[in-house]
Amino acid sequence: MKIESMEDLFLEQIEDLYDAEKRLVKALPKMAEASTSQSLRQAIQSHLMETEGQVSRLESIFRTLGKSAKGQTCDAMKGLISEGEDMISDTNPSALRDAGIIACANRVEHYEIAAYGSARTFAQTLGLREASSLLDQTLQEEKAADQKLTQLAESMVNEEALRSPATSKR
Ligand SMILES: [Fe+2]
Repeated sequence: MKIESMEDLFLEQIEDLYDAEKRLVKALPKMAEASTSQSLRQAIQSHLMETEGQVSRLESIFRTLGKSAKGQTCDAMKGLISEGEDMISDTNPSALRDAGIIACANRVEHYEIAAYGSARTFAQTLGLREASSLLDQTLQEEKAADQKLTQLAESMVNEEALRSPATSKR
């Protein structure tokens, strides 16, 4: 699609996010299942439910624009998810793996925070109030998810990972 106006640019961003979120809905259950910490697993599962809601919000935005919901391959999210899959296959089920999963998930959240921040600003510029408010709700969820992950890493997972047998020097 040739981008020739702010409207085109906004739509392109929403299509990219739509693809990104749908990929994440498929990937998060695998990340939850691979986690060994109960609190990490719960955090990922609750973000999965939020992510499903975020997909619906994007669908609402397509509706307000009078466009049909369609995604446009998000290469960045594809890459981030693939790094998460590598992390899982390169580690044994352990706190070390959990720490690695959090590092990958934080990258995902930061990518989304950047994308939703830009999209919300574009919506504001275009005077699309409803879209802007929907994007802001998701942005706040992504920020909270990022903080929750960081908190989990700092409060327990990293310390446990340090004691994990795979890293002990004998
Ligand atoms: Fe999201």
